[in-house]
Amino acid sequence: MTETVHVALGDRAYDIHIGPGLLTRAAEFVGPFLKRQRVAVVTDENVAALHLDTLKTSLGNAGIDVVSLTLPAGEATKGWPQLTRTVEWLLENKVERNDVVIALGGGVIGDLVGFAAAVLRRGVRFIQIPTSLLAQVDSSVGGKTGINAPQGKNLIGAFHQPTLVLADVGVLETLTSRDFLAGCGEIVKYGLLGDLGFFEWLEKNGDAMSSGDMDARIYAVKRSCQMKADIVVRDETEQGDRALLNLGHTFCHALEAATGYSDRLLHGEGVSIGCALAFDLSAQMGLVSQETPSRVRALFQAMGMKTNLNDIEDELPPASYLLELMSQDKKVINGQLRFILANGIGSSFVTSDVDPDDVLTVLKNGFLL
Ligand code: GLY
Repeated sequence: MTETVHVALGDRAYDIHIGPGLLTRAAEFVGPFLKRQRVAVVTDENVAALHLDTLKTSLGNAGIDVVSLTLPAGEATKGWPQLTRTVEWLLENKVERNDVVIALGGGVIGDLVGFAAAVLRRGVRFIQIPTSLLAQVDSSVGGKTGINAPQGKNLIGAFHQPTLVLADVGVLETLTSRDFLAGCGEIVKYGLLGDLGFFEWLEKNGDAMSSGDMDARIYAVKRSCQMKADIVVRDETEQGDRALLNLGHTFCHALEAATGYSDRLLHGEGVSIGCALAFDLSAQMGLVSQETPSRVRALFQAMGMKTNLNDIEDELPPASYLLELMSQDKKVINGQLRFILANGIGSSFVTSDVDPDDVLTVLKNGFLL
């Protein structure tokens, strides 16, 4: 079964196809976009070992020539050196303005290759084939592309929408359980930020989804992509509503910085902990009942996800230092922190009207959970 979500962005509209086995059927989806029978694929070492041959075989059997570049795996790839290497490799391989570049991988590859496509010859089309759950439900959709700077994550980039997204949920079987659950952090986020019904569906089906139920996985990826597509269509360049997608991210970014962007905390794990803290802050400010954050945590815990500061291995810096890290977040405007808070599960809003003392209290209490 294949599901499709349409991202209705006028002349930049595109489809997200979701289902198992799409890698083996890649030519069927990619072919119609090619002006000549040739594509350039960029991936990383881990993904290449698992999935590059399948993609190449599918395209090759349809008479499409493939050139491929395999980059090192990991967040460190997402910087100037590998971007330069990718852009120069694309030029050496004579990728032209009308050609299509394929990003095969997780968020790092999708962001970097999308940015390379955005700047190559002032913009060539690119197709996202996300292979991590996090990339399937978040980073491959919506056109945010870019690399990290020494000054912070994702500070260099461009909005460049893909031409097509192929989310093969079958490849999720190859993820470690930790990586899969990290992606679930972003899925639960969608329920929390805008769809109580989806949150309730996850309360009933989250377990089945984690244990490999294919229909549940397809539905969860589809509902997440639909929600993201709706928000991106309303606010492509994040002038307003798109910021809702950052629920939990102000806390998450501070925790990622505090743990040195290392394996101690995966981004999706920071998102689940950050979402729980955002609901704690909403409760502290009297916006939701005291029971609401417990319900949020209960779902994360039932699915085996991280939800408390103490779920992060080794000691964290004190609450006051975490608050300090938040004030360096790129969502700070005129020196004021911006948070996504909630009036209830499925009802979130963006605000700068937050007393830093409330944040401090939430973090201090968070260390006691
Ligand atoms: N990941 C947040 C966004 O795409 O806006």
